Amino acid sequence: MAASPGRRLPCMFISTSLSGDKPQQYAALADQARALVAGERDRIANAANLAALVHHALPDLNWVGFYFYDGTELVVGPFQGLPACVRIPLDRGVCGAAARTGTTQRVEDVHAFPGHIACDAASRSELVVPLFRGGALLGVFDLDSPVPGRFDVEDQRGLEEIARVYVESLGT
Ligand code: SME
Repeated sequence: MAASPGRRLPCMFISTSLSGDKPQQYAALADQARALVAGERDRIANAANLAALVHHALPDLNWVGFYFYDGTELVVGPFQGLPACVRIPLDRGVCGAAARTGTTQRVEDVHAFPGHIACDAASRSELVVPLFRGGALLGVFDLDSPVPGRFDVEDQRGLEEIARVYVESLGT
């Protein structure tokens, strides 16, 4: 069968290690993320590839993925890590808090977060970035770590940029 015009095949991703200080590493990761989703608008495809990219690029993560808002609650989307809770109401967990408040939740100790949902008992810290498109809640980008306090402000900025790359990849 003939390849359709514009298809980018074959596609082999070469994993390269990130160098420089943390902002430089996140700038390089954002470049890789933009290249990975360039020309593709499918929300599942881009979420799957970005979850895989981040999971392989950054150390000390045990879960990286997306939850999508279905109009009522958050439903698990593409991710890397152990199988996770399928549905999260907006009044529950770190993910619900990010979606409900529209602000990134950076939790140094998940055991101290009221209502934290433990999908993987190994998780000790978590970062959840809410995803909005045209003012509407799309879902959240969620990262878990087995290391307490894994995410600092630079991680937050860098991962918010990856989340932005994702939302922008979907078009307007
Ligand atoms: N810990 C999250 C639930 C999702 S898992 O981490 C994959 C929360 O409290 O919302």
